[in-house]
Amino acid sequence: MRRVGSVLAAVLLVGVCCAFAGQGSESLVLPVEGKYGEVAFPHWNHQATLGDCNTCHGMFPQETGAIHRLIADNGLKKKQVMNNCRACHRTTAKAGNPSGPVKCFDCHAKG
Ligand code: HEC
Ligand code: HEC
Ligand code: HEC
Repeated sequence: MRRVGSVLAAVLLVGVCCAFAGQGSESLVLPVEGKYGEVAFPHWNHQATLGDCNTCHGMFPQETGAIHRLIADNGLKKKQVMNNCRACHRTTAKAGNPSGPVKCFDCHAKG
């Protein structure tokens, strides 16, 4: 009975994963001006890994240019989204799990 339960749970998890991932653009280039240039962002990869749109979209809506619009309207501080990216990568790496970049030019193109 227990075994059937865990198989069922696994099937449900796969269902959740694949219905969830793959919305909006597969990858995005986030424009940044200056010495620290644009940031390439694998969007679908994060949807599949994190399992919750609001991990990011709790801070800004699901629209192209939303981050810059909110910074201009004082709805977000400069680097607030970036700090969220880095904080998660740092915590995940510390826990010994696959993670993303923390160093400046591992995210930013040289501007
Ligand atoms: C790890 C962070 C993160 C997660 C998780 C995330 N997104 Fe996004 N999403 C972004 C960023 C960054 C942008 C670009 C915002 C901008 O241009 O200012 C974006 C833009 C979008 C856009 C508009 C641009 C486009 O064509 O893709 C849509 C639609 C979207 N997201 C949907 C989703 C949905 C649905 C989920 C959950 C299934 C999700 N996102 C999860 C970070 C994320
Ligand atoms: C995980 C990826 C990532 C890393 C690592 C990263 N950045 Fe960023 N950075 C971003 C993103 C995404 C934005 C645009 C969103 C925002 O401003 O929050 C950004 C924005 C910026 C901006 C523009 C802020 C503004 O609006 O004027 C500067 C400057 C910057 N980063 C410098 C740095 C420096 C310096 C480091 C290293 C200490 C660094 N970044 C590391 C992703 C990253
Ligand atoms: C809540 C956690 C979390 C947040 C927020 C997050 N990431 Fe990540 N990121 C990850 C994890 C986990 C991985 C490793 C995924 C994997 O290996 O499949 C990753 C991987 C990456 C990679 C490397 C992908 C590759 O193919 O090697 C980049 C680039 C990246 N993230 C950029 C960003 C940027 C830019 C943001 C903010 C807009 C962001 N991440 C927000 C957890 C996060």
